[in-house]
Parts: sequence; C-alpha cells; structure tokens
Amino acid sequence: MADIRNIVILTGAGVSAESGLATFRGPDGLWEGHRVEDVCTPEALVHDPMMVHRFYDERRAKLALVKPNAAHAALAALDRAWPGALLVVTQNVDDLHERAGSKRLIHMHGELKSALCAACGSTAAWQAALPPGSKCAGCGQPKLRPAIVFFGEMPYEMDVIEAALDEADLFVSIGTSGVVYPAAGFVQIARARGARTLELNLDRSAGRSYFQECRVGPASLLVPELVRELTGRQAID
Ligand code: OAD
Repeated sequence: MADIRNIVILTGAGVSAESGLATFRGPDGLWEGHRVEDVCTPEALVHDPMMVHRFYDERRAKLALVKPNAAHAALAALDRAWPGALLVVTQNVDDLHERAGSKRLIHMHGELKSALCAACGSTAAWQAALPPGSKCAGCGQPKLRPAIVFFGEMPYEMDVIEAALDEADLFVSIGTSGVVYPAAGFVQIARARGARTLELNLDRSAGRSYFQECRVGPASLLVPELVRELTGRQAID
C-alpha cells in the first residue's frame, strides 16, 4: 500500500448491518418487509405516497436507536489521518458515517435526514416525520418528499465521484452487493484508470470478478484492519 495517495471508498448497506440496520437485499430479498420496487421508485411515490413516506419516516426514526460501528469509526479515523485525496461514497441513506466523524463523504443515493422539493428541486435538512403534502420553505409548494434517489433517478454528485475515480490509486468497495448501477460500475472505471481494487464483504459479491483482491468477513473487523494497513496503525490504535 506504500505507493497509494488517492483513495475512493464505496460503502453499502453491509457497513451499517452490524449497527442493526437491515441491508436492502437480505436472505428473504426484502428491505424491512418491502420489495425495493414498492418503496424506492417514482411510480410507488405517485401510487401510494402515504406508504412510501411512512416507510422512510420509520427508517428515519430508527436512526435515533442505532450507533456507528467499528467500520464507520475506522473510516472516520482514516479521513482524519490520510494526507492524500480521500472520498467515501456511500450508497447508504443513514447518517452513521457522519456521526462517526467522516467529512470527505458523498451520499450518492440521498439521505433520510433530508427532504427534497419536487417543485423547485431544493433540499433541506429534515429530522421529523415527513407527511405527503409538507410545504417547501423555499418555494412554498406542498411537494416535499424524502431526498432518496429512487430507481431511474440520477444519483447525487456524480461529477465529483467520477473525478475522484479518475485520480484514484486505490478503490475499495465495502459491504455492497454490486448489483445497483452506476455504483456497481465504479470498480471497472477505477481499474481502467489504473487503480488497485479491493472488495471487503461478508460474502463475495456479484461484482467480485472485477476486483483484484477480495477479503471476506464482517466490516467491523476488515475495515479497521485495512485502515491500520494504510496508516501504519497510528490512526485507530
Ligand atoms: P445490499 O443489501 O444489496 O447488499 C448488502 C451487502 O452487504 C451484501 O453484499 C452483503 O453480503 C454485505 N454485508 C452484509 N453484512 C455485512 C457485514 N457485516 N460486513 C460486510 N459486508 C456485509 O445493499 P447495497 O449493495 O448497499 O438504493 O444496495 C445498493 C442499493 O440498492 C442501495 O443503496 C439502495 C438499494 O436499492 C437506493 O436506495 C437508491
């Protein structure tokens, strides 16, 4: 790892699993009892706004009951210690990376604690329940919805992510099944630009063949180990 300066880290639901948040594709294929298509598409929001809003209200409320785990803490320690470029791109809509202390962070699939105005496109921090018909403080329209990127919508900050992938010497994917694009394609972009590629996952993911190295185990063990390797131990001991 001695020659590495610029790092991009992609995280998925697996990094928050040991904090007690359900992954999207559990053994039953459901996300907290729902099919992803029923709560994560623009069509679902049109057909059953109450159900979709309630679903994200419940997920938002649950954040108060969980804490960052050792994997989030190790990534935050890496952020503090790493002198080169570093970007954590999370697909997660929870707030555990920032609560652990990560600063160089993008929520590419949005955030539970944010509301998006479907009328004017502005976003605002949102902590409480968000019933359909809630008004935007900016334009006054009753069009606020959860600021979650639904299937078919463009993820946030793709230009910044692509620029970071262009410069990356190391790309690490942690706890993601590698089935949802564009995130699932980041490994190929990074590798084509010459980055070393590493997967950390409880199982080998759908995209495993694209990685030069795969380490199998829980994020709470593998991530601190990796951060020690990268920083020569001082960051988290
Ligand atoms: P998934 O639920 O698809 O995958 C979770 C991954 O985490 C699996 O590969 C598990 O093997 C792994 N995993 C579980 N526990 C782990 C642990 N303790 N340590 C390490 N790995 C573990 O979740 P994502 O890949 O994040 O999109 O899902 C991608 C996107 O699909 C989500 O962002 C969401 C969903 O639809 C939107 O909300 C737009």
